[in-house]
Amino acid sequence: LILESRLLKRHKSGNLRRLQLLQRPLVDFASNDYLALARSQDLAALVAAEHQAVPLSLGSTGSRLLTGNSLYAEQLEARIAKFHGYEAGLLFNCGYMANIGLLSAVARPEDTIIFDAAIHASMHDGMRLSRAKAFPFRHNDLGHLQQRLQNASAKHQRYICIESLYSTDGSIAPLREICRLAKEYEARLMVDEAHAVGTAGPQGRGLVAEQGLREAVFAQVVTFGKALGVHGAIVLGSELLKHYLVNFATSYIYTTALPRQMLSAISCSYALFPHMECQRQQLKRLIQLFRQACPDASFAQIQAVRIQGNVAVKEAARQLKVSGFDVRPLMSPTVKQGHESLRICLHAFNSEQELLQLINYIKGNGMLCTESL
Ligand SMILES: Cc1ncc(COP(=O)(O)O)c(C=O)c1O
Repeated sequence: LILESRLLKRHKSGNLRRLQLLQRPLVDFASNDYLALARSQDLAALVAAEHQAVPLSLGSTGSRLLTGNSLYAEQLEARIAKFHGYEAGLLFNCGYMANIGLLSAVARPEDTIIFDAAIHASMHDGMRLSRAKAFPFRHNDLGHLQQRLQNASAKHQRYICIESLYSTDGSIAPLREICRLAKEYEARLMVDEAHAVGTAGPQGRGLVAEQGLREAVFAQVVTFGKALGVHGAIVLGSELLKHYLVNFATSYIYTTALPRQMLSAISCSYALFPHMECQRQQLKRLIQLFRQACPDASFAQIQAVRIQGNVAVKEAARQLKVSGFDVRPLMSPTVKQGHESLRICLHAFNSEQELLQLINYIKGNGMLCTESL
């Protein structure tokens, strides 16, 4: 009865979730495949060549701490950490598990986590598991962050949790200023770069690298299922942090390790994406085009078009689908009530003509463009 009544409540508030299959090909303005690597024949061929060279077993057979470890996994971690300029890296099965493992392991109940109100659900779950005190600061509001830092006890560790490029609306964190505050208040900074790696920074290293802030970051999370077109995640930081997570991150310890096929795919993606400048340039052109039409729009490949109310935003997405565009609604409670929006993801494979058609549709229907939720 409880299950039914909760579902009914969802239904009434217009945000009942259902799995859906695409009925016909639509222009993709919804997926996180920003660089088109998930559909890349080059990536598929590279991975297939590795598979031919070494016959790969299908399963990793155990946790990394038991039978699931390999020299390949260790070398891959070292290579990715070096590419991003960190001492060490630890692979996780996905970004969700990386954030849960990282936060629940490092923050102790006596510590304080101060987090941007717009951070991803996986960090919320990690904070909850940690049982640390946790306080939000208004999205990208430095004054509020400072106030929270001042109010947090200096007797115990303070943590700041942010994304560098926010998944909901493409807004970008004021990283430099946040690093300065982290230093001033001796807070450890954790940055989720899920949507920035591959698309931003030198060779797609992300926004922390672009701004030369690596030294100020305690832990960085990179996910491989978005611009990198594959699956999995890595937590980057010091050797000490890695050693600690191997001992205390339960979402790392108590799960079967990624299979070798996926490690190969991650490795091949790292061989390709640093060199995909043409794709990054195409993304820049599309972002510019979007910004010409909507000057308040984001500077990144994720755009949000605010349409208040779950019912209205769902209906707008449905109409776009009828017109041939795959655009997904962001509904509450994923975003704050009143901040519902269409989330438009731009990709290197989208043509300027497709984007102009989408923009004309949006403008023709009186929808507004907004940068920040
Ligand atoms: C900011 C952010 N962090 C973490 C994740 C989780 O990553 P994964 O899909 O690899 O579990 C996502 C994906 O939804 C995300 O948007």
